[in-house]
Amino acid sequence: MTEKLSFKNKVVVITGAGGGLGRVYALEFAKRGANVVINDLGGSLGGEGHNSRAADVVVAEIQEKYKVKAAANYDSVTDNAAGIVKTALDNFGRLDIIINNAGILRDSSFVKMQDSAFDSVVDVHLNGAYKLTKAAWSIFRRQNFGRVINTCSPAGLYGNFGQANYSAAKLGLVGFTETLAKEGFKNNIYVNCIVPLARSRMTERIIPPHILKTLAPEKIAPMVLYLCHESTKVTNSIFELAAGYYSQIRWERSSGQIFNPDPETFTSEAILNKWSSIVDYQDKPFNKVSHPVQLSDYNSLISKARQLPANSQGSLEIKSL
Ligand code: NAI
Repeated sequence: MTEKLSFKNKVVVITGAGGGLGRVYALEFAKRGANVVINDLGGSLGGEGHNSRAADVVVAEIQEKYKVKAAANYDSVTDNAAGIVKTALDNFGRLDIIINNAGILRDSSFVKMQDSAFDSVVDVHLNGAYKLTKAAWSIFRRQNFGRVINTCSPAGLYGNFGQANYSAAKLGLVGFTETLAKEGFKNNIYVNCIVPLARSRMTERIIPPHILKTLAPEKIAPMVLYLCHESTKVTNSIFELAAGYYSQIRWERSSGQIFNPDPETFTSEAILNKWSSIVDYQDKPFNKVSHPVQLSDYNSLISKARQLPANSQGSLEIKSL
């Protein structure tokens, strides 16, 4: 039988854990023995106001149900990420896992969107995740262990009417994840991105009730915990999670069209003529459809375009820092 994944002796910070998805993650981590910092500003869906109650209620619920210590933190991820990390260190002496989950919505069509709506949404989702991860990063490096989950959204991957601010912030988190996964790998810091769809105050007014019924947030938590366990080897990945359906999202590059070697073929007319080949997602004899995961995956492509062997001098050098 598979061994139960335990989080005993692990300390987890979850932002925005006073409700919705964050609360469910917190309960599941605590049930499996973790000490959890419940961070929540306790504001409205649009991010106005603040209240300590949201975080306090979840801390009390954890202590009553699972008899493990949890700590509340009421800081905004945008203002005092270092304070959130300090809450973990002061209460539990360590920090192992962060779940960047806090979020707000300020939807409006792009034509009507105010700068303040764009800035505040990017600030909470993207800058907030940056600030907390930055505050934890040197701890993770020193202890040679860390797990980070960033929370993207279908709106970030595919776009959604009225959510230019939110989509920009959420897709920003994908790039953030992909770079940190590469920088953290040698120190056993694994970074992944989830794309959930779940019932919460964020979705209750936009998804019809009969669909909402199937979207319990409890159906998202198992993957989040799996990705954070010390035994997991998964990093640099994006997972879509909804209603118990789990799948992975990846980049796909079409088989494409090489216009080399004749420079005269580099014309807009040539592109028009070859358009269907540029966007062709079928393998061709010399060009395969591919799934790039790093910058150096350009090597073979550029070599092909220059008609050079992939390992010859002059292929694109990717310097690792
Ligand atoms: P929610 O509104 O229930 O939870 C978000 C929490 O973040 C709230 O408790 C809020 O008080 C807190 N928060 C907001 N600003 C904060 C700040 N500056 N500092 C600290 N805490 C702050 O919404 P839900 O659905 O649980 O969302 C959780 C995450 O999942 C968000 O990042 C959201 O964008 C993302 N997401 C949710 C989806 C869904 O279907 N529910 C779909 C896609 C993404």
